Amino acid sequence: MTLLTVWPDNDPGTVVLRTEDGAEIQSELKRLGVRFERWDVVPGLPPTPTSEEVLAAYRENVDRVVEAEGYVLVDAMHMTPSDDPAWRENAAAARKKFLAEHTHDDDEDRFFARGSGVFYLHIGDHVYAVFCEAGDLLSVPANTTHWFDMGTRPDYVSVRFFHDDDGWVGNFTGSPIASLFPDYDTLAASRAQ
Ligand SMILES: [Fe+2]
Repeated sequence: MTLLTVWPDNDPGTVVLRTEDGAEIQSELKRLGVRFERWDVVPGLPPTPTSEEVLAAYRENVDRVVEAEGYVLVDAMHMTPSDDPAWRENAAAARKKFLAEHTHDDDEDRFFARGSGVFYLHIGDHVYAVFCEAGDLLSVPANTTHWFDMGTRPDYVSVRFFHDDDGWVGNFTGSPIASLFPDYDTLAASRAQ
């Protein structure tokens, strides 16, 4: 289940909301102008699917979002754990890329077809951590300060939507805020208890 955790942005020790209720998460995010949808997970994708295989499996929903939001590019990627040391190195580098607070000029729409990842939205004077799981679509509005943690053993398949093909650029704020809040591994462990 998706998990939403909210803290004051200056007090990572005080949780003001923690919920796994899909409807509550959706309405909380809607209030912030953040789109959140839950799609039925399509079974049967191979462990390391191609972009085409993922897009074909979710064609109907993908087309609907593209149509509604005017996206011109859609692709899918996966992070699939391996014991290869080179994989660990690549995974650590991929994790680090968007682990500090940043913004984009475009919306950041992500659908998780498998696995999980956490988007931290820094909006107003709160931090909203959305622990996304398979079936979740989250759209981070353009210019929203946020960061993303895929954890130390990234495992997910995600669909990405783009309004142009200029590449995905992060404008980093230089704030250390991301390092002050519980990371992916900590949130994942807190759920297992
Ligand atoms: Fe981002």
